[in-house]
Amino acid sequence: MTQKKVVRKRRKRYKLVWPWKNSKLRLKRRKLKIRKEVLYLLVALFALFLLFFIPRHLQTSRLKKLGYKKDEIAAIRKENLANELIEKEYYSPFLANSIKDGTLNKDYLSLYTVISEDGSLDEQDFLLYNRLLDRGYTEEQLLNLFHSLRRYEMTPLLVFDYQIIETKYIEDCLNNRETNSKDHFVLTNNYYTHYANPIEVSDPNSIDMLVNKTYYLPDGFRPNDLETMSRVYAAEDRQLSSVAARAFEEFADAGQNVGVRFFITSSFRSYEDQVALHDMYVKSYGEEWADERSARAGYSEHQTGLTVDIAAVNEDDKENFEDTLAYQWTKSNCQDYGWIIRFPEGKEQITGYIFESWHYRYLGKELAQAVVASGLTYDEFYCLYLKPWDNEENKPSEAILAATNWQKKQAEPEESEKPE
Ligand code: DAL
Ligand code: ZN
Repeated sequence: MTQKKVVRKRRKRYKLVWPWKNSKLRLKRRKLKIRKEVLYLLVALFALFLLFFIPRHLQTSRLKKLGYKKDEIAAIRKENLANELIEKEYYSPFLANSIKDGTLNKDYLSLYTVISEDGSLDEQDFLLYNRLLDRGYTEEQLLNLFHSLRRYEMTPLLVFDYQIIETKYIEDCLNNRETNSKDHFVLTNNYYTHYANPIEVSDPNSIDMLVNKTYYLPDGFRPNDLETMSRVYAAEDRQLSSVAARAFEEFADAGQNVGVRFFITSSFRSYEDQVALHDMYVKSYGEEWADERSARAGYSEHQTGLTVDIAAVNEDDKENFEDTLAYQWTKSNCQDYGWIIRFPEGKEQITGYIFESWHYRYLGKELAQAVVASGLTYDEFYCLYLKPWDNEENKPSEAILAATNWQKKQAEPEESEKPE
């Protein structure tokens, strides 16, 4: 047999062994197999659909139960907040609105739940929240405070003692709300134990240091650039740090240019001078009277070389500086020359001193202007914007720190001043 014939024979035999290979039966089976596969696919798709749909449906109904509306739920999903809101049961109309309008800061979710619908929250509030956290307040206390109080009622807490029972403080604020405002803050009870928690000023050569009934100057501190003021500007032998000396001359010259004349009655006082002065007041009028008017040694701004007491020239008939025309001018203009009224009227409980219309502290122009614009005492301003953090973990995000930087705040125009 030839080779070709052998192959043909083998093929024939093969055909005989597998007779259905190209038959209709094979086609049928294949069709059946495909139908089965499609069915499996459909079942799998349906299962997947159920797996996705059921949890989503449950999520929607839970969010609805909390109080969220359809469009708010869409925004919640976009922000990936659904599970957290459900788990913590967070809802308030203010929170819902903030999520919807895209203004929410996710780091402060709980805070949004306690703010009333017509309220607001911005970076200043977040900074205050973190500062109070750093002061020792718990989240629960902070929610209570932010729920009940206005910002100007909370900033004094940065200066006051830590209030274990914050509800008593809240009650006092609410009881005095009719007479209190950003410019006048008087409570029925006292919340500041003077000299009870002393902190040493870390950089007594800085211009922005805070010296008050908590912050004291290091032992024996004396500025090394004191200079004696000319008699044109001061009573005899009055000394100031050079930067404050120049700034005072500029301040007084500007007053003189508009016919307002004032001069320095007291400026730098050494630790020993302050001991003598305070002792004299205590002996004459008692400790309480003295402490309301005179700092204990080490705690006086006069020791910084950055502070002056002033009097009007040729307005001798006026008993108090606050009754003079000079005061009307210094009060409105001092910040433009770098000075602030350090113990303002209506803030006595925060500063710990009676209103001193004559006592001006040098801070530099930018800082002085920012303090006056804030409406805060320097005690509050320092604790809110400048104080080192006790615990770095309480620091807010860099974005919040950048937005609340007082220099930036100063540079940005007020809302009402922004061009249309
Ligand atoms: N009179 C101010 C408070 C002082 O003694 O420093
Ligand atoms: Zn003074």
